[in-house]
Amino acid sequence: MGLGYSLLVRPMLALMDSEKAHSRALLGLRFTSFTFLGRWMLRVIYRPRNVFSKCMGLDFPNPLGLAAGMDKKAEAMPGWENLGFGFIEVGGITEHEQSGNPKPRMFRSGKHGALVNRMGFNNPGSQLMSSHLSKSSKPGVPLFLNVGKSKITALEDAHLDYAKTVERCQEYVDGFVINVSSPNTPNLRELQKDEDLARIIEAVQQHSGNKPVLIKIAPDLEDMQIRSIVDTARGLGCAGIVATNTTIERPEEEGIMLETGGLSGRPLRQRSTQVIRLIADHTDGNWPIIGVGGISNADDAWEKIINGASLIQIYSAMVFQGASAIKSIVNGLDKKLKSHGISNIEDAVGLARRA
Ligand SMILES: Cc1cc2nc3c(=O)[nH]c(=O)nc-3n(C[C@H](O)[C@H](O)[C@H](O)COP(=O)(O)O)c2cc1C
Repeated sequence: MGLGYSLLVRPMLALMDSEKAHSRALLGLRFTSFTFLGRWMLRVIYRPRNVFSKCMGLDFPNPLGLAAGMDKKAEAMPGWENLGFGFIEVGGITEHEQSGNPKPRMFRSGKHGALVNRMGFNNPGSQLMSSHLSKSSKPGVPLFLNVGKSKITALEDAHLDYAKTVERCQEYVDGFVINVSSPNTPNLRELQKDEDLARIIEAVQQHSGNKPVLIKIAPDLEDMQIRSIVDTARGLGCAGIVATNTTIERPEEEGIMLETGGLSGRPLRQRSTQVIRLIADHTDGNWPIIGVGGISNADDAWEKIINGASLIQIYSAMVFQGASAIKSIVNGLDKKLKSHGISNIEDAVGLARRA
């Protein structure tokens, strides 16, 4: 099936408009995972070995999660679980429903292994999301909700917007990721400033039912700003940090790189790892980091882990490789642990810092 994907599905999807291809793939996964037989098939073909991990008081069958934005409406949760993800982050969801930016707003470049998107938080809003989650069966792996700010909400009221979404969805998920780092909502990244961030975290914590609250940051910050955000969030009791979101930097000026939006995939890998390392050094490895940005194989995943990430996530690799990326990354990590004589992933976290 991995070969089938490479030969048949991927070239077909490559011919399609990126967003259309994405919705078709999601629909396919949703239908396949609808029946017992379909779920069994997904497990047989794709599921990786168990590489158990514990973090933030939660148990993970493996440390690789689905990054935010791939399943904004939580439409295919059983699919992601049966494909073998160790955790799932759905959303971003905002208080109010919104349609996002005009299409086309998602672009891919096979040559660069990269995507540019300016989706702009197209999502059904937290009222509908909470009603959908209440009717869905909760996956057997930890489920996080990525929370954004509605475009119509003024920056000074942002904390109320985030808190409303968290309040509405609190019962149905295991934790929250406060997204103050999407480049596609005007001025959203300004909310990474200490006083704004603190107000949002405090408002969210009042409604999170003591479930883990994490923040997700941009890779385009100065190192000093990152340390300051970490101090604020950690000081207020956030459970950890997701590093990083997409970048507005462009390593090259051609093809999709000319499009406005956030760049993800291979060109983001190095900066994302630098940010992870910076945070791990600053917190002496004592604060959970979910590492995301340009992971496309087990080596990339290992690099993130040994530089301080306890958990990792992928988005772009799913677009370029399909679901076989999950097995190849997780089984590859298992091999790396064995070759280093390490019995669990926690012992590998930050290994490069201790060298
Ligand atoms: C089309 C698209 C939509 C995204 N939507 C969100 C989102 O709603 N919230 C969020 O925090 N990150 C979002 N992201 C960022 C990803 O979660 C991830 O941080 C980024 O793509 C880097 O990982 P990657 O290099 O593995 O793709 C989105 C990324 C893409 C490509």
